[in-house]
Amino acid sequence: MPFLAIKHAHVTFVVITIILFNLRYFLRVAKPNRPLPTVLKIVPHINDTLLLITGLWAMSVAKWVPFGNAHWLGVKLVLLVVYIIVGSITMRAVPRSLKSSIGYLAGLACIAAIVYLAYVKPF
Ligand code: HEM
Repeated sequence: MPFLAIKHAHVTFVVITIILFNLRYFLRVAKPNRPLPTVLKIVPHINDTLLLITGLWAMSVAKWVPFGNAHWLGVKLVLLVVYIIVGSITMRAVPRSLKSSIGYLAGLACIAAIVYLAYVKPF
């Protein structure tokens, strides 16, 4: 498959990740006593798996090596782990709590830094 098609698929899953993270956070803020619908507990895992597969695929096609010829990609993967941890803390925290709000902002900051690294590749 051509590199651009893989990258477009990857960026599509990135957009879905951002939408799902915000949707889950704001649904919990709006209705703190109601558990998230089951679909919103399953779909993010499927999307994250596809995000990972397309990322690894693009990585092998472009011959990027994290911390080898692509330090930006190495840092991006470290930030991805931070995002996963922060995201799960946010979704487990009591809705509207300080912990949940800080986790949400930290999650957004991780995604912003990851997108910046992917586009700018500063190192
Ligand atoms: C939350 C997670 C992620 C976000 C927000 C994200 C974001 C992005 C974005 C916006 C691009 C497009 C850059 C461009 O068009 O120039 C991109 C490309 C790419 N991503 Fe990701 N990504 C994520 C996860 C991953 C993972 C897990 C991997 C690898 C295991 C990965 C590897 C790549 C590669 C190799 C490219 C192509 C870079 C290039 O050669 O231009 N990404 N990513």
